[in-house]
Amino acid sequence: MVKVLFVCLGNICRSPAAEGAFSKLVEEKGLQQTFTIDSCGTAGYHIGSLPHKTTREVARLNGIELTHRARQFSRDDFSKFDYILAMDDSNYKDILNLAKSDEDKGKVFLFRTFQENNGGEMSVPDPYYGGLDGFKAVQKIVIESSNGFLEYLIKKGIL
Ligand code: 4NP
Repeated sequence: MVKVLFVCLGNICRSPAAEGAFSKLVEEKGLQQTFTIDSCGTAGYHIGSLPHKTTREVARLNGIELTHRARQFSRDDFSKFDYILAMDDSNYKDILNLAKSDEDKGKVFLFRTFQENNGGEMSVPDPYYGGLDGFKAVQKIVIESSNGFLEYLIKKGIL
C-alpha cells in the first residue's frame, strides 16, 4: 500500500483538487487497491467544509467529483502516510517544521516538482482570492503533476 497525502493551506482548493485528480488517475490505471489517498490543510479555517464551489465545478468538467471534507494536518500524519505532497513553499516549510525526524522530513515533497514542463515553478498558485482562470490553472497543474508523480513511483520501482 502506498499512502499519499496532499497538503495546502485551507484544504478547500488545491489539495482536494490534487486528491481528486490523482484518485482519478489511479482508478484509470486500476490501481485503487494499491493506494490510500487523502488531503488536508496546514490551517484549520475550513475544517469540515466541502471544497470551494469553483474548485468542485472545475473538477467536475474533468469528470472528477470532489466530496472531501476539510481537515487540518497533524503530526500523526507523518506516521500514517508515505508521501506528503505540499502545494506551495509555505505549506512545505510549515510541514517540515512539524517533522520530528529525518524520516518524517524525507516524506515531504513539493507536488509541482513532479509536473513535466513546470517552467521551473515549484508551487501550485493559490486560487482562493482570484477568478475562474486561477482555478482552471490549478486543475491543469494538479492533473499534470499527478501524471508525473505516478511516473516517478513507477521509475523508482515502487509500483
Ligand atoms: P487552499 O486555498 O489552500 O488551496 O485550500 C485557500 C483556501 C482558503 C484560504 C486560503 C487559501 N483562506 O484564507 O481562508
